[in-house]
Amino acid sequence: MDDLLGHESAGSGPVLVLIHGFPFDRRMWAAQGALAQGRRVVALDLPGRGLSAGMSVEGATIDGYADRVADLIKAETHGLGGQADVSGLSMGGYVAFSLWRRHPELVRSLILSGTRAGADSEEGRAARTANADIAWAEGTIGLAETMLDKILAPTTGDEVRNRVIQMFDETPALTAIADLVAMRDRADSTDLLGTIIVPTLVLRGSEDAIAGEADAKAMAAAINGARFATIPAAGHLAPMESPDGWNEAVREFYSHSIVAGGLDEMS
Ligand code: MLT
Repeated sequence: MDDLLGHESAGSGPVLVLIHGFPFDRRMWAAQGALAQGRRVVALDLPGRGLSAGMSVEGATIDGYADRVADLIKAETHGLGGQADVSGLSMGGYVAFSLWRRHPELVRSLILSGTRAGADSEEGRAARTANADIAWAEGTIGLAETMLDKILAPTTGDEVRNRVIQMFDETPALTAIADLVAMRDRADSTDLLGTIIVPTLVLRGSEDAIAGEADAKAMAAAINGARFATIPAAGHLAPMESPDGWNEAVREFYSHSIVAGGLDEMS
């Protein structure tokens, strides 16, 4: 388990692993530190950015990212049953699907926020390649102009907007390109949904222009017993844009599922 993913953590107890979206890093989960009551919240950086900046992204795949997350879960849960509650946003959701496909024994519950089970369409794949060209020519910040209005709700204020821009700015172009290729070539996870047997929460910001409402509801319907909640006044980055609403939905999920603070499991 050399080269564990860089991460920040808070609290102690059952482990909640937070997997960020594209082209961001662990800092998008700053407000989720508030969930570290009775659990250990671990916000990781996928390879090539933040605290994982030294890791190579050559030949990166979503499955490769998932294997790295699996190594981190094993390290973090040593002596705690070896399982983690996993939350993935968008690209982080694609990683969470892969984690379930490849390492289901490590997953105790899932939160799928602003994400999609399907693979990219031909048009979507072409857009990934075009975005990789932009990142190569202008740096990752070059993607902000076209992406920002799709990512953030119109009501989201400057403080969040500036933090988002900073993450665009600081993600190396090669990392963004690796992510884009990995997302473009990812597996379709639609058939995986029916195999998910852990408690699952599907979340979507009401203004999310990337993850559509119909798709999110269909995804929740395809997962046995999954809960679905809409976060009002939030876009694609709901955990940043409406942190109280997002955290409350998560608390409610844990209080209604077998994973509440780990106590139900012990009884
Ligand atoms: C993300 O937020 O991770 C991206 O929007 C995912 C994607 O482009 O499919």
